[in-house]
Amino acid sequence: MERNSILSIVYCVMMTLLVLQGVGGALLSLNYIPVMEELQALKSVQSIGATVKFGWFFQTLHKQCVHSIVIVSILLMILNIRKEEITVTTIAKWWGSVLTVLIILFAVYSGNILVGDGYASQSYQIGGNIVNEIPLIGVMLHFLLFSSNQQELQTFSLVRMYVNHILFLPILLGTVLYLQKPRELRENLTPIETIITILSVILVQITFAFLLPLNAKTIPYQPDWFFLPIHYLQQHIPSIITGLIIGSLLLSVLFLPIIYRKKREGL
Ligand code: HEM
Repeated sequence: MERNSILSIVYCVMMTLLVLQGVGGALLSLNYIPVMEELQALKSVQSIGATVKFGWFFQTLHKQCVHSIVIVSILLMILNIRKEEITVTTIAKWWGSVLTVLIILFAVYSGNILVGDGYASQSYQIGGNIVNEIPLIGVMLHFLLFSSNQQELQTFSLVRMYVNHILFLPILLGTVLYLQKPRELRENLTPIETIITILSVILVQITFAFLLPLNAKTIPYQPDWFFLPIHYLQQHIPSIITGLIIGSLLLSVLFLPIIYRKKREGL
């Protein structure tokens, strides 16, 4: 199978997962309360799982989908590496795919904050400190994503995260993904193939949601696998160095195609 066909299938899988996440998320929002006082946020999350009809199912679906979304977004990024033709368009697509992974990671992070428990408060402070330390863009990012006047997770900062999670991030993600739409999408995927792909993704995710019910939060707390490197760094070195490492990694990844082109031209 050629690369463009794989790209089209992966793109279709990604869009299906995001629509599924949006529909599930919208249903969760009906019963979610973004208020920190008297642990209302945490209680609403617990009651969605325990008392709301099929709440446990949509909660599990929303949580399980995250793993597939992260894997597929990384796959999309890998498929956008084009060593043979480095043009403005391919560089823009590469940047788009890197941005997609970052937005998704932040969507997961903000989702975890919404739970409003002790880990959410801790993650909010640590995340805020690390983002603040990212060189050049850190202060602006912190201003956009966190509350500059609140170090701790309080109702105002939770509502901000909530708005980011259900509105700002999905809109941004939708726009970035729309701009990345493979040119040959229609030629590579017939309507029947598209329907089969969409139905398979939905079926697999629903099966996962039934087979892997959401376990009670593990104690001691275990972060998601994709956050493990940041979790490890943050435990062993100060936020300023973690911010520096993330910033330099980001810069190198973004400029990878340009560095590669310069190197190839120099040879
Ligand atoms: C890329 C898209 C999204 C990702 C990766 C994502 C991820 C997450 C994660 C990881 C959680 C924490 C779940 C838990 O530990 O219980 C969460 C919670 C939540 N999400 Fe999303 N989400 C996305 C989109 C949306 C959208 C579009 C909405 C609403 C329209 C939404 C509404 C919610 C709500 C209300 C909660 C808190 C309720 C609960 O956890 O039961 N999400 N999300």
